[in-house]
Amino acid sequence: MRLSICMLASEATPFAKTGGLADVAGALTKQLHAAGHDVRLVMPLYAQVDRAAHGIAPVEGFADLPLEFGPHRLRWSLHAATLPRSGARAWFIDVPALYARGTLYTDEADEHLRFIALTRAALELCQRWAWAPQVLHCNDWHAAFAPLLLKTAYGWDRLFDPVRTVLTIHNIGYQGEFPASRVPDLGIGPPDTSRLHQDDLRAGRVNALKHGILYADAITTVSPTYAQEIMTPQYGMGLEGVLRQRAAQVRGILNGVDYDDWDPRRDRWLPRHFDADSLEVKAALKTDLMARLRLEWSARTALLGIVSRFTPQKGLDLLFDTLPPLLASRDAALVALGNGDARYEVFFEGLQARFPGRVVYHRGYDEGLAHWIEAAADIFLMPSLYEPCGLNQMYSLRYGTIPVVRRTGGLADSVRMFDPASGSGTGIVFNDFDAPAMDWAMRTALDLFAQPRAWSRLVRNAMAEDFSWERQAREYEALYRGLLSAA
Ligand code: ADP
Ligand code: GLC
Repeated sequence: MRLSICMLASEATPFAKTGGLADVAGALTKQLHAAGHDVRLVMPLYAQVDRAAHGIAPVEGFADLPLEFGPHRLRWSLHAATLPRSGARAWFIDVPALYARGTLYTDEADEHLRFIALTRAALELCQRWAWAPQVLHCNDWHAAFAPLLLKTAYGWDRLFDPVRTVLTIHNIGYQGEFPASRVPDLGIGPPDTSRLHQDDLRAGRVNALKHGILYADAITTVSPTYAQEIMTPQYGMGLEGVLRQRAAQVRGILNGVDYDDWDPRRDRWLPRHFDADSLEVKAALKTDLMARLRLEWSARTALLGIVSRFTPQKGLDLLFDTLPPLLASRDAALVALGNGDARYEVFFEGLQARFPGRVVYHRGYDEGLAHWIEAAADIFLMPSLYEPCGLNQMYSLRYGTIPVVRRTGGLADSVRMFDPASGSGTGIVFNDFDAPAMDWAMRTALDLFAQPRAWSRLVRNAMAEDFSWERQAREYEALYRGLLSAA
């Protein structure tokens, strides 16, 4: 049976991206479309989106429409494009007053309003289309009010009766909290406001993600291990209680990889391509990249790579005391790409100054360099404090770049510790979030790198892993069908 699905997300590749959510929203939409479903991606038209490059055009008859709720009298218009290498359509909500800002996300006082408006515009778009998706798939806090709004502000419209809602939590560290004084921004009044979390209201706040957890028909997160973790105080960031209340509706579905974009056999950012039978090309790309970055090279130098948002989530604190002595004592070089919290930027800048020719830090966001690092590095460092899924370790596996990861969330579900005795496993996995464990993991990786036979086995195991969306999307289809048959 063909399903109709509305995918509501705050970012999607290739249009607007700050992290893995974009990759997932784009690739899952493509895959569901390829599987024959009517899936429509709805997202904001940020000023940063390159309309010309992506062929984004205004939709006739959908210009300057009213979007009125609470105290707000906004206007919106609709734009559309087709996802590359797919026939799936992406629909863009344009509200210049809200989406023309310096960055995709802001710390401004109306941040919650920007995404309440997105959610309401998406629902009004469905009304204008007279199209009720069977499944409204809401991603992260930005879309998390949709289930509640369907039961309240839009509850009068019978069109939406058959709609089932799914909330996917990509990162519980971002919850979309705002002051209770801003409740009018939701555009619901009494008695509907009694459905808001009352203890939070009394404490003076509203938590967007919490309402998604309370009111969605199903709640997913992006790996089975993270689904367990977020029901505990250590990882739940205050939402473990409501998640446990709804435990029967919570499940983890591991993300997939879009191998159209992330495969060394056809990567558009690389001048030459490789697979497990042409690893000499990988070696050549490594010497190329190291030469371009002016890194000293010898045949035995291991190249370590990092591509990351610089936030405490990514576990970079573990590198502060471990990387300098490692670089001082071993034949290793490092290329790090990322930006974010100043202390990490300062750390990598310092490392580069201290180890000239051995460390290059590129501060910023660079899609091409990210692909080059995945392809050219020998070892990829991802020691996350928590990691809902993580995509870079899965990309690394496909490029034969051995991930060093902490056993948490999706890292635990996608990387298997290498066992030299049996020759099984795909990476280096450590347990404790502390410097000795990190140090052990990096040294273990470097020791293995120095043993060509073991290393070659490890690289081949890694490259043989398959996290394609073809597989992973089937789990979402099964979930959707389960919701519809239960209805
Ligand atoms: P998260 O979503 O938590 O940032 P993921 O591993 O799921 O982590 O996804 C990160 C995505 O963002 C990957 O596609 C990665 O290549 C990309 N990325 C992260 N930082 C940068 C950067 N500085 N430059 C280019 N791409 C980046
Ligand atoms: C979030 C998580 C990351 C996950 C991504 C896509 O940004 O931090 O672990 O891979 O979402 O689901």
